[in-house]
Parts: sequence; structure tokens; C-alpha cells
Amino acid sequence: MNTPILLVHGFPLCREAWRAQIDALAATCRVVAPDLRGFGENPAKAEGVLTMDRFAGDLHALLKGLETGPAVVAGHSMGGYVALAFARLFPSMLKGLVLVATRAGPDTPEAAAGRRATAEKVRAEGTRIVVDAMASMMLAPGRTDPRVRGLMEGATKEGVIGALLGMAERADSAPMLGKISVPTLVVTGSADAIIPPAESEAMARAIPGAALEVIPGAGHLVAFEEPEAFNRVLEGWLALRGF
Ligand code: MLT
Repeated sequence: MNTPILLVHGFPLCREAWRAQIDALAATCRVVAPDLRGFGENPAKAEGVLTMDRFAGDLHALLKGLETGPAVVAGHSMGGYVALAFARLFPSMLKGLVLVATRAGPDTPEAAAGRRATAEKVRAEGTRIVVDAMASMMLAPGRTDPRVRGLMEGATKEGVIGALLGMAERADSAPMLGKISVPTLVVTGSADAIIPPAESEAMARAIPGAALEVIPGAGHLVAFEEPEAFNRVLEGWLALRGF
């Protein structure tokens, strides 16, 4: 009980994407759900390339500062890339891993070039183009929720550009999956239009003993979109693993 759990949001979101989990877990866990630099209300400077390792370093410093001890680290999408970087860099601070609507592999050269081109556009035109594009794809096809844009409102130009460049150069985490030795839960929505559920299935197969849960009908923002189903899965897994 009172296991520390670190919730890491995706791009270009903020901690409020985890609101339903923050509220549900508060009774049994010590929940740490920060905004990454450049996003939400995080006041830290976000200049330069925001690599996944840099985000992971920020989170490690945060846990150290809060004296949480080792934590379950849950990451959504880009937050999952960060969670895998955290697992590689700070294994002694990792108690468990929850990988939500994410993937282990790096960008293809084409995808990386696309991100760099988008970063240039954001530099010239602002974050709106990214918010517009992402907002329309976050939920299952055909679903809309005006709150989704609100989750992106705090994203700064520097944060969006830095994270795009950081994701474009992120490392391939696939080779480390077989070495993950902490309990791991992989969750995806069956209707994720941004990261295909097959990526989650592949990760779960590659991580020893990992559990896989697919939430039917949910899109990319699965924890926000289907909070009850998602929380049932997460809380059930946490209890089963004794966290
Ligand atoms: C996210 O939701 O964090 C992003 O879609 C991840 C990505 O663009 O690879």
C-alpha cells in the first residue's frame, strides 16, 4: 500500500490526461503526476531538444526530491518512451512498469523527417497545427470530446518543438524489452488511430511475464476516454502484484 506511482503523460498533453487515475489511485498509492517540461503548467525552461532521456532525468530528480523511493512508472504514448528511458537509466528506482498506447521501436527515417518538418512549421506558425492534428486523432474514430483540446493548451512552442525533435531521435527500446525484470502491464485501446494495438501486443510478448490488456473500442487516449475500464485494469493489476 501507498506504493509510489509516477504517471507520465503523452504529447502534447499534460498531467490532467491522468485525472481519473490520479483521483482513483490517491486512496491506495502515492501518486506523482507532473507536467513534463514544456507542457501543462511546468515552469521549467524547455529550450533545445527534449530527449526522452532528458525527460526521464527530470522525473528521476523529481522522485529523488520527493523521497518516494522506487516507483511504478506508468507512461502514455510519448510518456511510454520516457518510461522505457527511465527503466534503462534508473533501474534501481523502478518497481513496475505500465506501458499505455505506446511502442518500443524508434521512428522510421520517414517519420523522423516528418517530425522535423513539423517542428519547423511550429517554429514559424505556432503550436496550433500540432494541436489541431493531434486533437482529431486522440479518441476512437467518430468520438469527440471538447476537453481533449484543453489537455494541450499549456503546451509551449519550445516544448512542442523540443519534444518533436526528441522523439525523432529517440533510441530503439526494443532490444531492452527482454531484460525488463519488474512486473509490467501493457494497455492499449482496440481503436487507437495513432499507435496500432499490434505494437502493444509485440511489447507484451517481448517483456518477460508482461500482462496485456486491450480496452475494447477505446482510442489512443485510452485512460482518459475509458476511465472506468482502464482503472479496473490498472487497479486490478496493482493489487495482484501487491503494489
Ligand atoms: C503521444 O500521444 O504521445 C504521441 O502521439 C506519440 C508519438 O507521436 O509518437
